[in-house]
Amino acid sequence: MKTLSNKNISKIGIGSYGIGGRGHRDLKLTEKLDDENYIAALVYSLEKGMNFTEIALGYGHGNSLALFKQALERSSIDREDIFFTHSLYTRDLPSLEVIKEDIADFHKVMATDYADSTLITQSLIMKFGEETIYPLLHSLFDDGKTRYVSLSNANPKGIRAFKKEFNDKFIAHEGHLSFEIRALQDKGVFKTCDELNVRNIIWRPLRRNQTAKQNWELLDELAKKYNKTHNQIVLNWICSLRYNPMVMSANKKHIDENIASTEFHMSDDDYQRMTDFRPKNYHPPKIDWESPGVGSSIVTLISDFENHVSQ
Ligand SMILES: NC(=O)c1ccc[n+]([C@@H]2O[C@H](COP(=O)([O-])OP(=O)(O)OC[C@H]3O[C@@H](n4cnc5c(N)ncnc54)[C@H](OP(=O)(O)O)[C@@H]3O)[C@@H](O)[C@H]2O)c1
Repeated sequence: MKTLSNKNISKIGIGSYGIGGRGHRDLKLTEKLDDENYIAALVYSLEKGMNFTEIALGYGHGNSLALFKQALERSSIDREDIFFTHSLYTRDLPSLEVIKEDIADFHKVMATDYADSTLITQSLIMKFGEETIYPLLHSLFDDGKTRYVSLSNANPKGIRAFKKEFNDKFIAHEGHLSFEIRALQDKGVFKTCDELNVRNIIWRPLRRNQTAKQNWELLDELAKKYNKTHNQIVLNWICSLRYNPMVMSANKKHIDENIASTEFHMSDDDYQRMTDFRPKNYHPPKIDWESPGVGSSIVTLISDFENHVSQ
């Protein structure tokens, strides 16, 4: 997975949800810091070599993209050196017209001719149908508006169907993996992507620092053994699987800590223990893999983890 200027993507990418405040178009904006904090953190991340992100127009009610653009201008990094995935999330997009506006706005706000990839979720395909979404994505290739396409929160069947349609233009799948939540690992999502040569990008790998707060015995043991933080052990393990986590941070100390997590190795045995770990007394709800509304969404699964652990 390379930028237009032919640079490999960094091991860890920049999480953009939260930049300019948390909130999709249907959610109130919360936790908003001063814009300068975000711009400074983004410039810092870009200058340190973090060169990929995924961004949606709905993130921060549009603030995320606008601030990213300002940070890019202020940095010494060129547009062609960044791999931008423009994400189309179902919750922000009530109609095909709004999807088309969203794509046009991405190009306009970023002042760019192209997205490196255009991401859709499996739920977007379910909502609008392959017969609507596939031609739309093909038209982006025809018009030179995107270099690749990506998928998110899909099951192995959906990933295979997308591969059949887009072949080598299908560059990445964005899925969740954290220390506690292994639903996609157990469903074979990452393995399917590896087999099909589709890059596994991992979202919310630190569960917004909630994992570190759990004080897990295994993380504690490995953190002490390698003299690292709990978050560093998690990111290092995810990178060891050749997946690329994306982390959001507006804090330079955390950004340094996250980048440094790629700079050490653990023993094969310790990596295996991380991969094999499953939380005890955790009873996850059924996942809504194929039919919206039947079970929990993957996003809910992550935020609800603590509510499904019995003592
Ligand atoms: N495809 C999808 O469906 C989907 C869904 C959700 C998210 N995403 C993407 O994935 C990205 C990452 O997920 P996320 O932002 O939800 O969660 P995350 O990256 O796991 O966590 C971000 C939070 O953790 C804190 N943090 C980061 N590094 C830290 C460290 N070393 N020590 C302590 N705290 C640290 C940050 O606060 P500070 O600012 O204080 O560092 C921030 O509040 C998003 O930004 C978004 O781009 C995609």
